[in-house]
Amino acid sequence: MEQDMIVILDLGSEQNAQIAREIRALGVYSEIHPHDISKGELEALPNVRGIILNGGKNRVVDGKAIDAGEHVYHCGLPVLAVDHPPVADSLPAWPQEDEERKALLSRFVFDSCKAAANWNMKNFVADQVELLRRQIGGRKVLLALSGGVDSSVVAALLIKAVGDQLTCVHVNHGLLRKGEPEQVVEVFRHQMKANLIYVDAVDRFLDKLAGVADPEQKRKIIGAEFIRVFEEEARKLEGIDCLGQGTIYPDILESGTKTAKMVKSHHNVGGLPEDMTFELVEPLKQLFKDEVRACGLELGLPASMVYRQPFPGPGLGVRCLGAITRDRLEAVRESDAILREEFQKAGLEGKVWQYFTIVPDFKSVGVRDNARCFDWPVILRAVNTVDAMTATVEPIQWELFQRITQRILAEVPGVNRVLYDLSPKPPATIEWE
Ligand code: XMP
Repeated sequence: MEQDMIVILDLGSEQNAQIAREIRALGVYSEIHPHDISKGELEALPNVRGIILNGGKNRVVDGKAIDAGEHVYHCGLPVLAVDHPPVADSLPAWPQEDEERKALLSRFVFDSCKAAANWNMKNFVADQVELLRRQIGGRKVLLALSGGVDSSVVAALLIKAVGDQLTCVHVNHGLLRKGEPEQVVEVFRHQMKANLIYVDAVDRFLDKLAGVADPEQKRKIIGAEFIRVFEEEARKLEGIDCLGQGTIYPDILESGTKTAKMVKSHHNVGGLPEDMTFELVEPLKQLFKDEVRACGLELGLPASMVYRQPFPGPGLGVRCLGAITRDRLEAVRESDAILREEFQKAGLEGKVWQYFTIVPDFKSVGVRDNARCFDWPVILRAVNTVDAMTATVEPIQWELFQRITQRILAEVPGVNRVLYDLSPKPPATIEWE
């Protein structure tokens, strides 16, 4: 790749990703590496124009401040060494104000390092197409295409790079949102002319999940069954050597943290049996989420696909609480579609981080058409967050609440109440299961 790079060495800062994003926003590519990078590893990185040693509150380990090796200071490249707030007396602090920090970064990147501002999605796509063609050659690639942002952008990149050497498998497990399987077929099979295998596995998943009420058990069944269906499809295909994956840069950064605790088992595609060995193709592994979206737009994907809010792997399965039943699943799907439509009409799409509905497994008494009814409630959830580790509740306008409530009560069968979840994270999680 031809683009210039600024390397950030992590000296215990929690702001490495933020600094990398700010440098990329200046149009210069930036990567984060561990502070103890070896001379050989550093020299192997292409087109490095400068190094930032980014200290922070985890810099002092066992009473001693960690530092980069001597070779970093003597590699002949400009080095900016900073702390945030200052913790060890040897390094100067970042400026307090955002604008001052950005100005400092800009001076370092352009005046000291003389880096060229050539990081943009047009160049990224051109580079990746070239790299993918080199990696894949004449071989065949398989991709599990969920229709989520990451797998959709990987699919679009691979279609551009290797066309019909790619086979996409879309598994409809019945837990997708309204209209999603149809959109995947329309965009990828009809518009982008991809080889798309559409697997209707709705009955199979719902049969396996029948009567299972424990949330972790449900997640495990959905994850394992997904891999089983995908594996069955993969075995039917001949001569596949490579597997596309929607790994993105935060996945790589997060897998490096040693302190992260498991709150819920997150289901992601990819854990295929050991006797099925594929070479991985991960073209988005350098990108932050907003860059993945920009890449998707550059490749011609519709905005409605690229700007989708986050959606959990087990889908609506964790929003249809307890043992999933088809009637309640439809109530989740229909009420979710109404909520999304009304948020979109109110101009909140893309402004509120995540919003959805939940249907619990209990009923309450109501009255409809002068007769007693005994129906499900629908719970609305709308939250804002930066990193999904903590979240605040969106203060929805009263008129919007009323519109959504009226529509859900009128249009969703089997529902007689609408509630709003006012709980921040922590102590609540964003999802209910
Ligand atoms: P929680 O409920 O843990 O959710 O506060 C944090 C964010 O993660 C999403 N989420 C998942 N994403 N697989 C995923 O890919 C999962 O199993 C999963 N569970 C939760 C959730 O929607 C929220 O954005």
